[in-house]
Amino acid sequence: MSLHLRPLHPLFAAEATGVDLRTPIDDPTLAGIVAALDRYAVLVLPGQALSDAQQMDFSARLGPLETTIKAYRPDHKARLDLHISDVSNLDENNRVMAPDDRRRMNGLGNRLWHTDSSFKAIPARYSLLSARAIPGAGGETEFADLRAAWDALPDAMQRRVEGLVAEHSILHSRASIGFTDFSAEERARLQPVPQTLVRTHPGSGRKTLYLASHAGSIRGMALPKARLLLLDLMEHATQRAFVYTHRWRLHDLVIWDDRCTMHRAREYDASVPRDMHRTTVSDGVSTLAQAGLAA
Ligand code: OGA
Ligand code: MN
Repeated sequence: MSLHLRPLHPLFAAEATGVDLRTPIDDPTLAGIVAALDRYAVLVLPGQALSDAQQMDFSARLGPLETTIKAYRPDHKARLDLHISDVSNLDENNRVMAPDDRRRMNGLGNRLWHTDSSFKAIPARYSLLSARAIPGAGGETEFADLRAAWDALPDAMQRRVEGLVAEHSILHSRASIGFTDFSAEERARLQPVPQTLVRTHPGSGRKTLYLASHAGSIRGMALPKARLLLLDLMEHATQRAFVYTHRWRLHDLVIWDDRCTMHRAREYDASVPRDMHRTTVSDGVSTLAQAGLAA
């Protein structure tokens, strides 16, 4: 079997075929997938009808798996293994959630531009999202190339943002859409964490912005100035020219590099099942440590 790549966008994102992730792949194929991610940042692998165990086994070849923060709630009723983020609109009995279900409201946060787990001190390296059931229309996922966004910033802006440290919290992004239903334990465990605003991507050597709706402040900067700078950068980074829109087919597996992209879900008719299972590979090190800075 050999990996075949077909670009899906002028800047990034490619379709990857010629591999079957249901069985263990060899090291050269794995290295080929990592190299493709370093180049394209988003890989679409069609026709991967994976079980959760197969998805976890393959994902773990890329690094340590994260556990879902939904486990921070004592009332958490798991439909899936704790190493799988349930990105569906289904309850623990596989039924479509009620329109006002708290979990559904929380999940609406995925419609904001973000990168996964930037609200964790050690954020995500890769996310792998597997389409197990899809609605007839809507529910696309959009991706933005933050390397291209960095490259396109004027020199003066590059100089201004390089070295800045933002504070990210999922409480901030959820509050921005009016969702505040978090327990005391969640509030304590989801306090803001520092992330460099500009990163050097280790695999490609390219510089990249590191942004998300989770970012709510910048160290050493007055809050209104920081918020406006973050809004300007988000607007810049999500220009259409930097965005690839993925229209899901059943059994697509999409892998993205969280260090240099943002993504968001688009609206769909939530009365029909959309069943998406995500595994997340930790980056293993904080962005500050990666940049040689002390926390
Ligand atoms: C995710 C996510 C977007 C979507 O799984 O991390 O943000 O389209 N998903 O479901
Ligand atoms: Mn996400």
